[in-house]
Amino acid sequence: MAVVTIVNEDKVLKTRDEIVSGLATHGIDYERWEPAHPVSDDAPAEEILHAYSREIDELKARGGYVTADVIDVNPGTPGLDEMLAKFNREHWHDEDEVRFIIAGHGLFHIHSNTGAVLAIEVEPGDLIRVPRGTLHWFNLCADRRIRAIRLFQDKAGWTPNYTDSRVDEGFVPVCFGVTHLSAGSR
Ligand SMILES: [Fe+2]
Repeated sequence: MAVVTIVNEDKVLKTRDEIVSGLATHGIDYERWEPAHPVSDDAPAEEILHAYSREIDELKARGGYVTADVIDVNPGTPGLDEMLAKFNREHWHDEDEVRFIIAGHGLFHIHSNTGAVLAIEVEPGDLIRVPRGTLHWFNLCADRRIRAIRLFQDKAGWTPNYTDSRVDEGFVPVCFGVTHLSAGSR
């Protein structure tokens, strides 16, 4: 389950219902997906897409997405820091940002048009849909790993448009779940 904090209200959304309805208030869709059959998180992309094909097809029909792929980022990914630097500043896309997390973690910050800033820490099993035009930024967590299904209406829209507001600088990208896990395993 995602960890969702409305940062400027110091409010944590705890239950699944709270998360779904709380995020919907700001236009963000959140779902939990289960695979149709057991699949390893390091299975080939085709197997991953097949295991979630029912959910993917439903979402494609609902959101007008035409393609789905699997992105895999880990500490050994060449140019990782340069890649992350493109997305850790406030930006928006002309395309929905749709991610279903297979492995690893990530931290989305959403700058809602209500003025609220939401921190959404995603983990495997989480589906998040950030509508086009929504101001947001993204960081990896301490594991520096994320494998995720992406859906696109048009890959051409998948370019960050920066606000240069520097709002992102006021929010520390801390992932509570991963911090907790790594502390507990020492
Ligand atoms: Fe983005």
